Amino acid sequence: MTSPPSPHAIAPRADAGPEAAGAAVVIGPGGIGSAVAHELQQQARHGPVWCLGRRTEPALDYAREDSLAHSAAWVAQQCAHACVPLSLLVVATGYLHGPQGQPERSWSHLQADQLAHSFLVNSIGPALILKHFLPLLPRQGPCAAVFLSAKVGSITDNQLGGWYAYRAAKAALNQLVKTASIEQARRNRQSVVVALHPGTVDTALSAPFSKQGLNVRSSQEAARQIVQVISTLDASHNGSFIDPQGQLLPW
Ligand SMILES: NC(=O)c1ccc[n+]([C@@H]2O[C@H](COP(=O)([O-])OP(=O)(O)OC[C@H]3O[C@@H](n4cnc5c(N)ncnc54)[C@H](OP(=O)(O)O)[C@@H]3O)[C@@H](O)[C@H]2O)c1
Repeated sequence: MTSPPSPHAIAPRADAGPEAAGAAVVIGPGGIGSAVAHELQQQARHGPVWCLGRRTEPALDYAREDSLAHSAAWVAQQCAHACVPLSLLVVATGYLHGPQGQPERSWSHLQADQLAHSFLVNSIGPALILKHFLPLLPRQGPCAAVFLSAKVGSITDNQLGGWYAYRAAKAALNQLVKTASIEQARRNRQSVVVALHPGTVDTALSAPFSKQGLNVRSSQEAARQIVQVISTLDASHNGSFIDPQGQLLPW
């Protein structure tokens, strides 16, 4: 557990969104993830709000699948203890640059390590989240799973090229989300599984690439918008790729 989201139950508002009746889990307490967890807690829309990451207890690290299984079992136990279903899952993990390398401007910069790490964090980890956490969503009633993706993962929208590993890994994430949305709808017709592009947000991930002229928002502002958009989601949005205003993006 991280410090921001405390595990006490908060009564959901009567006018809250479709997924607001139960507990919420945010995976990835980075710039956007911790702001989203804080915003969910501030708005008192949900029951308990839990945030899980590599430095929480339990720890969740994509490099170790057993840590995902253990974290999912912990969440199931907490939900049972609080007598609430898990009604919202937000996956806010991601990787663009780091010790493994920088985003590639040309195919000549492609490196196996950078590709492998990008796919681990942007696609394989979230795929294992599908496996371990989607079964925790209820079989009846509204619920939502929101995976933060990136517009640069859109194949249709790719006008500039570059950023091979990140683009490809987010495109793979988008396909995983779309595929899971179909399976999840068979389990619960009121559920919604979407990929969401948060816009350009001032975090460690974007810092080296925030050029003047870009509309860069604070993580708090982005989180408010993300939580607002989540509150408008219903089953008609299932399997879509949306921007921070809730508008459809091309895959
Ligand atoms: N910021 C932007 O402008 C922007 C734009 C478009 C899309 N996005 C997307 O929005 C999401 C959130 O990005 P952000 O800006 O908040 O990035 P961030 O601050 O760098 O946070 C990234 C999160 O991913 C987690 N993570 C990294 N490697 C992991 C691993 N092996 N196992 C588990 N978790 C791991 C980090 O965990 P630790 O806390 O343990 O390091 C951190 O919580 C990402 O999917 C990103 O691609 C961001």
